[in-house]
Amino acid sequence: MSGINLAILGATGVVGSEILNVLEKSSLPINSIKMLSSSRSAGKKVIFKGQEYTVIETKPEEFEGIDIVLASAGASTSKTYADTIVKAGAVIVDNSSAFRMEKDVPLVIAGANDDDLRKHKGIVANPNCSTSQLMLVLKPLHEYANIKRLIVSTYQAVSGAGKAAMDELLAHTEAKITGKEFETKAFVKPIAFNLIPQIDIFCDNAYTKEEMKVVNETKKILHLKENTPISCTAVRVPVFIGHSEAVTVEFEKPLTAEKAREILENAYGIVVMDDIENKIYPTPTFVAGKDPVYVGRIRKDLAFDNAIAMWVVADNLRIGAALNTVRIAEKLVEMKLVKNS
Ligand code: A2P
Repeated sequence: MSGINLAILGATGVVGSEILNVLEKSSLPINSIKMLSSSRSAGKKVIFKGQEYTVIETKPEEFEGIDIVLASAGASTSKTYADTIVKAGAVIVDNSSAFRMEKDVPLVIAGANDDDLRKHKGIVANPNCSTSQLMLVLKPLHEYANIKRLIVSTYQAVSGAGKAAMDELLAHTEAKITGKEFETKAFVKPIAFNLIPQIDIFCDNAYTKEEMKVVNETKKILHLKENTPISCTAVRVPVFIGHSEAVTVEFEKPLTAEKAREILENAYGIVVMDDIENKIYPTPTFVAGKDPVYVGRIRKDLAFDNAIAMWVVADNLRIGAALNTVRIAEKLVEMKLVKNS
């Protein structure tokens, strides 16, 4: 095999930079790599594996000869270039919401539903960050006891909204401390020392689009019945990196907290961090920069007969975006589902 010709669409963004970090340690056989952005960052320099690369403005002809495009430049950019990328014979692994719910597009968490990759027609979608971290946790529990009902509350870091949102949390916090005026731009409400129970816009059913992504993407990835009851409340919190989730799952078959803990201790990509006597459970600052999904506070849920409650924390830029993107690329090559593999 001659190696893969890669393009990073959105190489200068928060997720794009994290993709490059993850790729540094990946076993993916890379023949060449191209850094793409909008005209704003064209000409900037990016370091990868000790080598300097000049960022190039994205144009259709840049995808000729490329095998895999790792895209994290927003839904409209992905929609603009997807056809060109597919016609060039490449596979786009897309981080945006543009294609996630399309029938012909596999929505994949590596290690949870790899076989869905076999159905790809040039586009593979990476789930929304709050769905992603849940899937590696729910998949092995679902295999054992069948999910009947799911209730999730998310506490989502600002990095999920990009670099401008991270900059705003810092600037707003400084303004608050020093008593200066601050004009909110990246969020619909002030983010410093606050919580915002709205991520993305509201849908007709009074849930937000972010919440409905968790509902719909979970069903697609785990192949759940369309009428499986799932409810989500998504909240933006003044944390830079690391999404946390309070999760209640009701099962068809009996599942004790002890058994759930045992299953998760042996599951791919999960670290159980659950020792309440010693105050051990995961927090966002602990997980930032780490690959696994951390699970703690595993206990019998008191509101349902056969349910488990737990606390799930992960680096939203890693498993929620960059890490899964790179893992999908690795799987595509391993399963020989891309040219040059
Ligand atoms: P640029 O640096 O030129 O703005 P973030 O979500 O962290 O803000 O990053 C978004 C990424 O997507 C950046 O790399 C950004 O490039 C890139 N991007 C945004 N719009 C486009 C576009 N129309 N074409 C190509 N890349 C884009």
